[in-house]
Amino acid sequence: MLRVGLIGCGNIGLRGHLPVYARIPEAELVAVCDIVEERVQEAARLSGATPYTDYRELLEREDIQMVDICLPTDLHSRAAIDAIEAGKHVLCEKPMAHTLEAAEAMIKAVRRNGVKLMIGQVRRFDHRYAAIKAQIDAGDVGEPVFIRRAERQFLPFPPEAWHWNPKRGGGVILDIGVHITDMFRWFFGEDPTEVYAVARSVRENARIAGSFDHAMITCKFPGGKVGFAEISWAYPQGFGGALYAHLDIVGTEGKISYSEKDTNPMLIYTQDKGHQLPRYFRFMSTTEYAFEEEIRHFARCILEDKEPAVSIEDAYAALEIALAAQRSAENGEPVELGRR
Ligand SMILES: NC(=O)c1ccc[n+]([C@@H]2O[C@H](COP(=O)([O-])OP(=O)(O)OC[C@H]3O[C@@H](n4cnc5c(N)ncnc54)[C@H](O)[C@@H]3O)[C@@H](O)[C@H]2O)c1
Repeated sequence: MLRVGLIGCGNIGLRGHLPVYARIPEAELVAVCDIVEERVQEAARLSGATPYTDYRELLEREDIQMVDICLPTDLHSRAAIDAIEAGKHVLCEKPMAHTLEAAEAMIKAVRRNGVKLMIGQVRRFDHRYAAIKAQIDAGDVGEPVFIRRAERQFLPFPPEAWHWNPKRGGGVILDIGVHITDMFRWFFGEDPTEVYAVARSVRENARIAGSFDHAMITCKFPGGKVGFAEISWAYPQGFGGALYAHLDIVGTEGKISYSEKDTNPMLIYTQDKGHQLPRYFRFMSTTEYAFEEEIRHFARCILEDKEPAVSIEDAYAALEIALAAQRSAENGEPVELGRR
């Protein structure tokens, strides 16, 4: 069993990653870290792990083999490099980093130290999308030619949260955009040649921070294939968030459609409330088992010395395309992407 230290006990660290360790046989959470004392105490109380407010102390522990980083995006690279230099295997939340330079520094550190690094492109571990990918690979719809994706939310965080800050979180194009740029590459099985984005700052928080909270992104792929996505943090509060995620894959011989709203299997009717389609996914668009699959997969890769399903190159490419979309949205011009 691997011993793990979790760095960052905020939204996703505490609610998405931490509970997984109590359920899986491959890894045990022995240390938790957050600079906010109450958060790390809460994480320690929930997990039984030792609390730290300075991650360097956690990294000094020789019994820890794997570090799970759930820090704000602009802190990923520094913390991941520090963990890698301390000889730890690293699972780091997406996006890989906030700049390509920061991501390149992570790659260099991995190559120097011979440890494993996986970025949590969690859609790949979500049973729903994994099932769709399996159908594509089996040739059920022929060759995919058009993908339409939507991920719509109301971002609940206050104006001072780092998520809105374009330099720290990159706004919706970086934060949610890396999910869709990764998904397009995964489903098409190749790299896009061009990206074009139109984006807006709809909510006051985004306007004050100078970031985008709603974007339409078009990625051109070789042979005329296209991936189109609407991503948003600006849907009305209470709209249902990512429950209204949507995906269409159009192939030369068929089509796959997936809508969280339309496929919600539960309908409740009561005389006082009428028809209701209750949310049955408890955690945003990413069900808890997707984080469980992701963490178990990475732990097994370490234990069995296998390559992770999301390569460093995959995560870097998802970031590179999202950053190009950001430039396109700022300049109003399509951005050509270099061939790898
Ligand atoms: N995979 C997904 O679907 C998904 C969903 C949400 C967030 N995320 C990613 O997870 C990361 C964290 O997002 P979040 O919403 O949980 O943010 P958050 O702000 O809620 O949590 C980050 C935590 O890190 C702590 N922190 C900051 N600096 C620190 C330091 N130097 N040392 C220790 N702790 C420190 C903060 O106090 C906070 O508790 C982001 O990169 C985000 O993109 C991924």
